Amino acid sequence: MKGLILAGGLGTRLRPLTHTGPKQLIPIANKPVLFYVIEDLVEAGITDIGIIVGYTEERINIVKNTVGDGSRWDAKITYIEQDAPRGIAHAVSCAREFMGDEPFVVYLGDNILKSGIGNFVNEFKNLGAEAGILLSPVPDPQKYGVAQLDDKGVVIDVKEKPKIPKSDLALIGVYMFTPRIFKVIETLKPSWRGEYEITDAIRSIILSKKYKVISHIVTDWWDDTGTAEAILHANHLILSDLKYKIEGAIEEGAKLIGNIELGQDSIIKNGTVVRGPVIIGKNCKIGPGYIGPYTSIGDNTTIIGGEVESSIIIGDTRIEFDKKIVDSLIGRYTSIVSKNSLPKGYRFIIGENSEIQL
Ligand code: DAU
Repeated sequence: MKGLILAGGLGTRLRPLTHTGPKQLIPIANKPVLFYVIEDLVEAGITDIGIIVGYTEERINIVKNTVGDGSRWDAKITYIEQDAPRGIAHAVSCAREFMGDEPFVVYLGDNILKSGIGNFVNEFKNLGAEAGILLSPVPDPQKYGVAQLDDKGVVIDVKEKPKIPKSDLALIGVYMFTPRIFKVIETLKPSWRGEYEITDAIRSIILSKKYKVISHIVTDWWDDTGTAEAILHANHLILSDLKYKIEGAIEEGAKLIGNIELGQDSIIKNGTVVRGPVIIGKNCKIGPGYIGPYTSIGDNTTIIGGEVESSIIIGDTRIEFDKKIVDSLIGRYTSIVSKNSLPKGYRFIIGENSEIQL
């Protein structure tokens, strides 16, 4: 079986972080979401993987340079360009040639699943179905594709972002198909949001009543990292399993509580309290100050003073601030500095669609 990861889309709900880079590269616990996806596929025995990328040379090159040819996972990665974000079904159809005659797994590059996909892949192979979907109960189904099951648990309908959902079972962004899906996609019309929806393709297979569509309800957590809140939530869940690992230096007088990972050439200074779970990358200078639970700090970051808690600092950032930063998602090459000698007032140099809560 082959794999297809979708790393196109525009990530509009995550601007300004997605103005230059794709959302699938935003790190959670200091690792890009896309890497978790690749690892899940490889763990399920799928090493021939296509990645859908678009729509500017800059974005395409960022993905290629970050992921590479797949050899670090013993996998082979082929990049497939989508000309514009025309929908998930359209993105899948771009991989027609790459898939050939093989059944395949489609994994949306912004989804994270705690328990991986191995069981599901095996189930699909054994049952000889035409399509397979993963489902999870959610409190807000109208934001997702939603499945309706009959009393025997068989999928009888699926609908993309319905106003009045028929169940609370959301489609998770992992699908399995045989190459027959390409023929079905050819018949689709764009939805009300102007996209070729994979949900419509699955619906058409179900309604044809000729082919089997299997579903699997996932009970472990999963996350669609489409918003800042969802990313911080995923960060929280991943860090809950963090192990203690110190490769950097800890000065005398620094206090570490709980599980902390500290990368090479990083230092935690005297007068700092770090309360885990906290992950700190390479070449960081931390303290004096307080770093609270569920915080991920990327490489080359300096934090002096103040408190940072339950946040993601992507990296290459300087924070010299005497206040508390919470539930924040801070992009690369950022500087947050408070200078007490200046007259009272805040000075901002920020991009479009930024959000600051004081
Ligand atoms: O996360 C689960 C949900 O994902 C499902 O419940 C929905 O049924 C499914 O349609 C999808 O909904 P979203 O609105 O969240 O999809 P989004 O536009 O965020 O795209 C999902 C991924 O696919 C994302 O990694 C970007 C990529 N993509 C998207 C489009 C529209 C592409 O590569 N090309 C595209 O044209």
